[in-house]
Amino acid sequence: MNVPDYIRHPRLISWVTEVAQLTAPDAVHWCDGSQEEYDRLCESMVASGTFRRLHPEKRPGSFLALSDPSDVARVEDRTFICSRRRSDAGPTNNWVDPREMKETLTKLFAGCMKGRTMYVIPFSMGPLGSPISHIGIELTDSPYVVVNMRIMTRMGRKVYDLLGENGEFVPALHSVGMPLAAGQKDVPWPCNPTTKYIVHFPEERSIWSYGSGYGGNALLGKKCFALRIASVMARDEGWLAEHMLILGVESPQGQKTYVAAAFPSACGKTNFAMLIPPKSFNDWKITTIGDDIAWIKPGPDGKLYAINPEAGYFGVAPGTSEKTNPNAMAAIARNTIFTNVAVTPDGDVWWEGMTKTPPPLLTDWQGKEWTPGCGRPAAHPNARFTAPAAQCPSIDKDWENPDGVPISAFIFGGRRSTTVPLVMQAFNWNFGVYLAATMGSETTAAAAGAVGEVRRDPFAMLPFCGYHMADYFNHWLQMGRSIYNPPRIFSVNWFRKDAEGNFLWPGYGENMRVLKWVVERVHGNAFAIESPLGWMPRYEDMDWTGWHDITQHQFYELMSIDRELWKKEILLQEELFIRVYDQLPKEFILMREMLLSQLWRSPEKWDMEHDA
Ligand code: OXD
Ligand code: MN
Repeated sequence: MNVPDYIRHPRLISWVTEVAQLTAPDAVHWCDGSQEEYDRLCESMVASGTFRRLHPEKRPGSFLALSDPSDVARVEDRTFICSRRRSDAGPTNNWVDPREMKETLTKLFAGCMKGRTMYVIPFSMGPLGSPISHIGIELTDSPYVVVNMRIMTRMGRKVYDLLGENGEFVPALHSVGMPLAAGQKDVPWPCNPTTKYIVHFPEERSIWSYGSGYGGNALLGKKCFALRIASVMARDEGWLAEHMLILGVESPQGQKTYVAAAFPSACGKTNFAMLIPPKSFNDWKITTIGDDIAWIKPGPDGKLYAINPEAGYFGVAPGTSEKTNPNAMAAIARNTIFTNVAVTPDGDVWWEGMTKTPPPLLTDWQGKEWTPGCGRPAAHPNARFTAPAAQCPSIDKDWENPDGVPISAFIFGGRRSTTVPLVMQAFNWNFGVYLAATMGSETTAAAAGAVGEVRRDPFAMLPFCGYHMADYFNHWLQMGRSIYNPPRIFSVNWFRKDAEGNFLWPGYGENMRVLKWVVERVHGNAFAIESPLGWMPRYEDMDWTGWHDITQHQFYELMSIDRELWKKEILLQEELFIRVYDQLPKEFILMREMLLSQLWRSPEKWDMEHDA
């Protein structure tokens, strides 16, 4: 094998050699991460039919890929945490004995790259050389993965300089699982329609992914490394790897406060991370550090510092518009890869929610002709854009600061049409951990499966925690003991509806009003009253400047706590507790009792109109 002379890492070279021997690609390409390489790969995918080049003026430097209809989302039921002991993976993860899994995978990977090129992708999660960053090497037979990884990570030759002869890296092996026989013609989106495995070996800190070319299944730096493997590293080393956006709030006086916020998939994390405050707040500024993942480590001063380990956005396209997220629209104006969106006759993109009136004629995400009344969605609900983070107008000046940014607050939110109030602050760190651990959310299209059911999604990490979920709760409690003056913890719910099913809160830019209260609480500058569940703003504690039609009554409706609903909620929480009973923090039982006793201390339908 022809190894470039700048690679001096014997363990890496022998791993690549072994994998090449096993998978039998026609060629091995060591990626250097250059623009020329990116352009060449894009051109070759245009030639092979995987990519379509979009309109050179309307969407310069951008491409469209349409996936196989069976390969459109993360496959949670095919995702495995193969720790040596089943009990370490815990009851919320799929587990197979690692020896058995290696045997299965070795058979599947044998010869699986025949007829294809194997690409070696060196990448850093986080700014190169930051003490918070970590390195990975992905081997893949998908050029689509290579170009996406170049946007989503810091990829290229410089990574080898950091690795030197003996540096640590996470080996991540990926194949679309569709070898080509001699002379067999390829398809635009190769994948294995029947066999998929997304496998993590936490003790080895390695990843094997087979059969899918889509998003989190294939871009292994993201969910597989930056969350599942990194959560294990974080537990072992005393830091946090979280499914969180990071944003900065700058007050008119220039005070900067950084907040990290966890929401389950497709709950508007990208929109929140890029929020544009309402006009009346134009002296407040929101800046973006990241929209999906945060790595957070204690700094020398004992505070928590966060980086975004990614370098791009792999955002859900449907619902993104000039109205809901102008920053994202600017970020995807050029140099963007679109997957499973619809395309206009002149080669621009469209998806549901992008404009009020759909174009009269489109080609849909399955390549079929689409007209507004045809009864099918034009874009797949989990259609995505891959765009460089630096193209976002709200990007924070410190987004690549190797030291990270100091985190002052954590926000946890789910998609709940009832039960959970718009905003509250946890009584203390431990209660905040409890609130985050018992979070529920209505499911979305980001993962294969039913949509719209409430499922417990602790910390928005249910599909992403690489070890026992309750052990993860313990890790959070432990972090609270080991850091000085830990960040304040808040719960939010943008999705509450009235009895007729109308949203009670407009969301988007108006979320700034909630964020302002959060930031002021952090600095001790905002009033709150004690509710049965936590600290809450009264109507007069919120800044309603420029918004004249929300009444006190409407606000208190959004903030009300219904004991009957909470009884059900606590029973559902109990299901989770019983599921993870063997490692459940002892504190949680006490906190549940406290919560129940608070609910009984208050009226059956608690609202501030009567209590404040
Ligand atoms: C994502 C997800 O793609 O959470 O970010 O599913
Ligand atoms: Mn996510």
